[in-house]
Amino acid sequence: MTYAAKLKVLFSRSDIACTVGRLASEISRDYRDKNPLLIGILKGSFIFLADLVRELDFPLEVDFVTLSSYGSARESCGQVKMLQCLRTDPCGRHVLVVEDIVDSGLTTSFLLEHIRKQNPASLKLCALSDKPSRRRTPVRIDYLGFTVPDVFIVGYGTDCNEEFRNLADICYLEEEV
Ligand code: PRP
Repeated sequence: MTYAAKLKVLFSRSDIACTVGRLASEISRDYRDKNPLLIGILKGSFIFLADLVRELDFPLEVDFVTLSSYGSARESCGQVKMLQCLRTDPCGRHVLVVEDIVDSGLTTSFLLEHIRKQNPASLKLCALSDKPSRRRTPVRIDYLGFTVPDVFIVGYGTDCNEEFRNLADICYLEEEV
C-alpha cells in the first residue's frame, strides 16, 4: 500500500486475535444461556464483530445500527446521527453493544440510551479500544480490549476519512506522536 510508510503498528494482528479470544471467553461466561442480541455499530465495528462472533459457540443473534458523528473530521462534531436503525426489537432481550472504539463516548452513550428506552432485559457494552483521554460523557465499558493513548488510530475497521479500515493491524499515523 502506498500509504504504509506513515503508519505505525500499535496492536498487531496477533495482539488483536489474542484480545478478541479473551473478550470472547468473558462474554461466553456471561451469555452462554441467554441467546443474546449483539448489536454492532457500523461502520467501525464490522471486522471486530465478525471475528468476535466466530469465537462464540452458543446461540446468539446479530443486528447492526449505522451511526455517525465524525464525517471526514478527526473530532466528533458532537451530533450523533442514526443513518440506519435496528431491525430487531431489543425489548426483553439481553443486549450487548459491540463497538470498535469509545473516544468522546457520544456515539455509545447515544445508542445505549436509545436501547435502554426499549426495555431490554440487560444492556452491556463491549469495546475493542478505549481512548479515555478524549471522553466528553461518561461511558461504562463492560468488556474492554485495549486502552489506547491520545493518537488517531486506524485499521481493523476504524477509518480516517474512510481510508484504512482494511488494515489487519491497529495503527496510528506517525506524524501524530
Ligand atoms: C467512530 C467509531 C465509533 C465512534 C467513536 O465512528 O467507529 O463508532 O466514532 O467515537 P466517539 O466515542 O467520539 O463517539 P464514526 O462516527 O467515525 O463512523 P464510522 O463507524 O462509520 O467510522
